[in-house]
Amino acid sequence: MQEIMCENELNTKLFAKNFASKLSKGDVIVLTGDLGAGKTKFVEGVLEYFGLQEEISSPTFTIVNEYHNEKIDIYHFDLYRLKDVYEFENIGGEEYFNRGLCIFEWGELIEDILPNDYIKITFDKGNTDDERKLIIETFGTKYEGITF
Ligand SMILES: Nc1ncnc2c1ncn2[C@@H]1O[C@H](COP(=O)(O)OP(=O)(O)OP(=O)(O)O)[C@@H](O)[C@H]1O
Ligand SMILES: [Mg+2]
Repeated sequence: MQEIMCENELNTKLFAKNFASKLSKGDVIVLTGDLGAGKTKFVEGVLEYFGLQEEISSPTFTIVNEYHNEKIDIYHFDLYRLKDVYEFENIGGEEYFNRGLCIFEWGELIEDILPNDYIKITFDKGNTDDERKLIIETFGTKYEGITF
């Protein structure tokens, strides 16, 4: 487990860009935390790293947004409105896991059916309005020994 203090939005995005440099196709990232915690800002940083920032849009009303270039295929899910894990299965959600880099806001809702290897980032409040504490946990063996 790793804890990162992000003083402000820019800091969160910078951390996300550095984090993204360690990611590739097949990685599964779960982002968990309250409304407004910074999950989407984090995704913006990841997209920026891969040169896909100009296309950012919120998946709030569509469940998944896709971003593609020659480097990567990114699937950005927002599961806030998901009823249950069966709804995810019914839309063929599991087929995305190996297709590219998958990032799930509110991903704890599908934790039961995630692959063995994944990274979970919990966004907690900090001491000031703009501070966020990011807690990074890895599951499975793929990320053993990697420092984010
Ligand atoms: N350290 C920080 N990191 C990220 N965002 C911050 C930080 N400090 C303040 N903010 C602000 O908090 C908000 C985070 O919004 P964001 O859409 O990323 O949240 P979210 O976790 O995706 O929420 P939701 O669950 O509604 O999708 C933004 O308005 C951003 O400017
Ligand atoms: Mg969001």
